[in-house]
Amino acid sequence: MTRITILTITIIFVGLVFFSNDIKDIYDGTQKISSLPKAEAADPSIDARSLYNNKCMKCHGKMGTQKVPATGLELAGQSKEVLMEKINGYKELRYGGKLRGVMSSQVSGLTPKEVNAISEYLSKLK
Ligand code: HEC
Repeated sequence: MTRITILTITIIFVGLVFFSNDIKDIYDGTQKISSLPKAEAADPSIDARSLYNNKCMKCHGKMGTQKVPATGLELAGQSKEVLMEKINGYKELRYGGKLRGVMSSQVSGLTPKEVNAISEYLSKLK
């Protein structure tokens, strides 16, 4: 009985450590781009630049070139589809590194059209 309990607890613990640290292996900026379907064009009535400047610039830099902690990746110039996938991944808690909690709260209020427009804006910054 106790052995099984200890074993079970150990397995749960190892699993938690394994999965809690890093769930960012879905897309890393260059991989699997070809497997993402092409996104629709952004809604022209959304001012993506102001949205970015108001909500994202303080951490990601004026032109999206401030490197993200841990990954060292810049937002500027990543493909629109990859950015959308990452932002939606943060919203749905299936993408990110140790600081994903910070990001999830930043993007949780964005509508799908806003995610699309911000991603298009960032992909063209470089
Ligand atoms: C309070 C600071 C902060 C704000 C504001 C912020 N971010 Fe982030 N962002 C981060 C951090 C920290 C990470 C790395 C999180 C992790 O560990 O996964 C990150 C990561 C990202 C990534 C993933 C980069 C990659 O290639 O892996 C994207 C995309 C992103 N942010 C987009 C945005 C957008 C769009 C906004 C505005 C709606 C925004 N962020 C606002 C701090 C911020």
